[in-house]
Amino acid sequence: MAHIAHNPDAWPDMRTALDLGAVLPRTAELRDGHLWIGGVDTVALAAQFGTALYVMDEAHIRGQLREYLTQLREHYPTADVAYAGKAFCCQAMCRLVAEEGGWLDVSSGGELACAQAAGFPVERVVVHGNCKTPLELWAAIEAGAGLIVADCFEELERIDRVAGELGVIQPILLRLTPGIIADTHEYMQTGAEDSKFGFGIGAGAALAAVEKALQAPGIALKGYHIHIGSQIFAFESYQRAIEVLLDFAAGVRDATGFTPEVLDLGGGVGVAYQADDQPGSIAAFASTVTAALCQQLAAHDLPEPRLLVEPGRSIVANAGVTLYTVGVLKDLPGIRTWVAVDGGMSDNIRTALYDAHYECLLANKADQPRSTVVTVAGKHCESGDVVAIDASLQPAEPFDILAVCTTGAYNYSMASNYNRQVRPGVVWVQDGQAREVLRRETYEDLLRCEV
Ligand code: LLP
Repeated sequence: MAHIAHNPDAWPDMRTALDLGAVLPRTAELRDGHLWIGGVDTVALAAQFGTALYVMDEAHIRGQLREYLTQLREHYPTADVAYAGKAFCCQAMCRLVAEEGGWLDVSSGGELACAQAAGFPVERVVVHGNCKTPLELWAAIEAGAGLIVADCFEELERIDRVAGELGVIQPILLRLTPGIIADTHEYMQTGAEDSKFGFGIGAGAALAAVEKALQAPGIALKGYHIHIGSQIFAFESYQRAIEVLLDFAAGVRDATGFTPEVLDLGGGVGVAYQADDQPGSIAAFASTVTAALCQQLAAHDLPEPRLLVEPGRSIVANAGVTLYTVGVLKDLPGIRTWVAVDGGMSDNIRTALYDAHYECLLANKADQPRSTVVTVAGKHCESGDVVAIDASLQPAEPFDILAVCTTGAYNYSMASNYNRQVRPGVVWVQDGQAREVLRRETYEDLLRCEV
């Protein structure tokens, strides 16, 4: 299998925990040889809550959200940030976003239900999905969702019908595909013409969608949405997408008189998964995107719309680490050393799915150099169940606590019960305090749906 092929000549990088820099949460520090986050010893957390366990740095999450808001508003005062719940969603997260003044992007009825249960202000919710069910649309419209992002013609009809039945006028955006292939994993590209998402600009579907939305009595068309992909390092793709979008907006204005009140530019910056990764900063993203937008608005003589962006990964990814207990080691001389842990593809599917690479360290030996190269495997019944391939690691022994970095985004949210494994709990740490925001599942939870 190609994705677990390793390099037999790989050398350990000898870095210790704090050399890992950007992949660690902001408050990570080394105390008494242990990795501490948020003023809490992660080794003690493993003992208290058990492993596997997701640990997240609350100050990091808040700091990232504030950074987006500050940087964007410096250049574009009406900008808002809608946190993309698909990266990590639970009630505590929804409440945090509400407290920070953010909007929330939900991509399913379940995420909407979570937001509502958390008391999130629904007028700041953006509802996404390429195949929203009639029930999901009903729930969103009935709740008074701030914006629904319509993805196809059937959906425009359904929104109009439900809004009519409920006697409301639903504000919407149209999701447009600008025909841009962003430089990221194919599964995370979403802006191409051949996409399951949105109305193609090039093919004329987008203009037809505007006309249909403007005629629908139950719909208030507010503007456009684009999302070209995720984990993007090169911001030129955004500039090109904004050019295509604003060209389109000007053409619509000329044809119908409609100008957008809201433009939503989709997800945020990519993040460092490996210590040497160099993603662009939030500040650079904000200045590039707003400069391109202002320039295009001026070039087409279009009024300034409100701006939304929907970062997910960059808010939570580096805030999180997953703690595991080392179970067994298997040294295959001349081949490789396997380190197996008490989790795996059920709590982190990204290695198997996207060939993702993670930095690992032993939380209880964090001051020692990572002087070995190992492959970290999970405990599931298949060979593709790997967490990190050719990872530098301190010499491991059974019952060491392994920390895998950058797991705050798209790990818990993509977790499964494969092999009837319980999903780990999530603990947030801040100022020396740990609070469990999601408890570990139990076997009773696994049996809850049995009829
Ligand atoms: N807005 C929309 C409409 C999206 O589809 C996404 C991500 C975002 C915002 C957030 O993008 P971000 O800031 O996180 O890049 N499961 C994959 C990622 C899929 C992303 C899907 N959409 C992964 O684990 O990498």
